[in-house]
Amino acid sequence: MRNQKMYEPDDKMISIIRDNYSILQSLGSFGINLGFGDKTVREVCEGQGVDTYTFLAVVNFTINGYREYDDGDRLSIPTLMQYLRASHVYYLDFQLPFIRRELTEALDEGNSLARLILKLYDEYAHQIRQHMKYEEKMVFPYVEALLRGESTVNYDIDTFSKHHGQTDQKLRELKSIIIKYLPSDGLRNNQLSATLYDIYNNEEWLSLHASVEDEIFIPAIRKLEQKSKKNDVTAKISHMIGQGNEAQEALSDREKEVIVSLVQGMTNKEIADHLFISINTVITHRRNIARKLQIHSPAGLTIYAIVNNLVDISSVKL
Ligand SMILES: [Fe+2]
Ligand SMILES: [Fe+2]
Repeated sequence: MRNQKMYEPDDKMISIIRDNYSILQSLGSFGINLGFGDKTVREVCEGQGVDTYTFLAVVNFTINGYREYDDGDRLSIPTLMQYLRASHVYYLDFQLPFIRRELTEALDEGNSLARLILKLYDEYAHQIRQHMKYEEKMVFPYVEALLRGESTVNYDIDTFSKHHGQTDQKLRELKSIIIKYLPSDGLRNNQLSATLYDIYNNEEWLSLHASVEDEIFIPAIRKLEQKSKKNDVTAKISHMIGQGNEAQEALSDREKEVIVSLVQGMTNKEIADHLFISINTVITHRRNIARKLQIHSPAGLTIYAIVNNLVDISSVKL
């Protein structure tokens, strides 16, 4: 099914499907309805509220294994998550029960080997359900919090990535048991072959789904995390600057006079005489100034006084 064509926004949507019918399910998960006539990919996506770039990133990756390595900023994460969520619904609510029905029809439930096969299948289905539920309960809400600008200290996408393991071992076991050990007879043999064919398709679908998560989703979230960490630092810096400004507003006129005197090189005694206050009061003012501005050195106070126009730079002994 693979071809080497890279699909672009101006290609006809129908041509993608004509060349790669397996992409039909992806269309459904993107929320794209059929019946789009001769419209281009861009027209269909825009008409149905789907981000064109993200749609093509997933489609080209699914068809050709192609991905741009630095496109994290251009991907729409909400579109990507909507796609992954809908893919889970498709697999859990449609594919898993569908294959189970096929298996029950193809197997003789009176046979104990058949019952074991169904048991193995149910275990597999349970494992996949847990895997997808984890993504929906932990990973997607975490990403949504990141998108809202909330930082989460005890979780990150690498924690997920490390445990995003393979889930197809039980399915492989199931296939080989059916192929190697199941006694066959006429009609049931046809049914079993058809079921096996569907299981193979399922396996391929699931591994592609995991690859979209590993190769597109996880790197995009890593980028988002880096960006939000940068924003955090910026917010902290502007908070600190803001605190400085608030403190400046909170300085009393007397405290400003003390700063000006200090910057002009006066001692505590000289300041007390100059402002007609006691030395103890000068010391208290200095303590309050240091606490409010978090500036303790004479040089720091000089810079503060110049920057905030308390003194003219020409009047300062440098
Ligand atoms: Fe998933
Ligand atoms: Fe997954």
